[in-house]
Amino acid sequence: MNPEQPPICDYEGSDYQTSFWDMSDRVYEDRVEAIAIHRLLPESGNLLLEIGAGAGRNTPRYKAFQRVVLVDYSSTQLQQAQTNLGSSDRYIYVAANAYQLPFVAGVFNGATMIRTLHHMAEPQLALEQVRLSLQPGATFILEYANKHNLKAILRYISRQQSWSPFTPEAVEFATLNFDFHPKSVRNWLETSGFSVERQLTVSHFRIDTLKRLIPLDMLVKLDSIAQLSGNWWQLSPSVFVSASAVGDTAIAPPGALFRCLVCDHNQLEQTDDSLICPNCRYHWNYENGIYDFRLK
Ligand SMILES: C[S@@+](CC[C@H](N)C(=O)[O-])C[C@H]1O[C@@H](n2cnc3c(N)ncnc32)[C@H](O)[C@@H]1O
Repeated sequence: MNPEQPPICDYEGSDYQTSFWDMSDRVYEDRVEAIAIHRLLPESGNLLLEIGAGAGRNTPRYKAFQRVVLVDYSSTQLQQAQTNLGSSDRYIYVAANAYQLPFVAGVFNGATMIRTLHHMAEPQLALEQVRLSLQPGATFILEYANKHNLKAILRYISRQQSWSPFTPEAVEFATLNFDFHPKSVRNWLETSGFSVERQLTVSHFRIDTLKRLIPLDMLVKLDSIAQLSGNWWQLSPSVFVSASAVGDTAIAPPGALFRCLVCDHNQLEQTDDSLICPNCRYHWNYENGIYDFRLK
């Protein structure tokens, strides 16, 4: 039923939020990302799609949107997000693959994908799925890991690193962890039906010594200023892009959200424990507040 799909970086059972964020010294990274999101987020919107939401670290930052659909392949990440965000009509939790999004075309008027594209062996495929889910004019905020960063350039020039930061192909620095070239990401966005509106370079000072020596508030302020050079050059390890969905594509009818991934029917019937497709009778599981659209 699930034809050849790219491999998935599996976070099931992972303590990513605790070990990477809560227990490690990454307050600087978290704060500068918050600034970038604040700068790029539209002033208001109805429905936002957050892809690779993880434990919901960024979700409270999307206050401008009335409702947020959190998508993650890992159900345990979504459970952690539920614990962190609480149960409310504001949040809809969906276990799904970014390569196969279960949404009616043109249903969202905003989307974000933060620290998630770097797990994609087929990034353009994922970006095309995002575009399909968006209405024309919607804003997409994408963060990616930048191979063309200053540290990589210096290491390459001084022959401490074999791969070139200047060439367009991705570099897989660990299994299913990729750094991308800014030009490649912009090309994928443009060929997927986006127009790149603004770029912010983020986390310029992600260096332990600097984080130890310079007071946190000052480092955050410096990064906040440096972010503004992102439209001219991209030399930081992380880049945030805001892109607008272009083209005369579909707008979903009011009330629509999910589509069946088996037959593409888009009026699924909700029961206590599933969404049933009236066309092909496939049952999509709904348990403890999480819709499960993962095709095995
Ligand atoms: C590094 S975490 C980032 C979480 C969150 N965006 C943040 O910045 O804190 C990457 C997330 O992407 C999810 N992910 C990876 N591949 C995915 C895929 N193919 N479809 C959906 N989610 C995926 C993982 O489960 C994980 O929760």
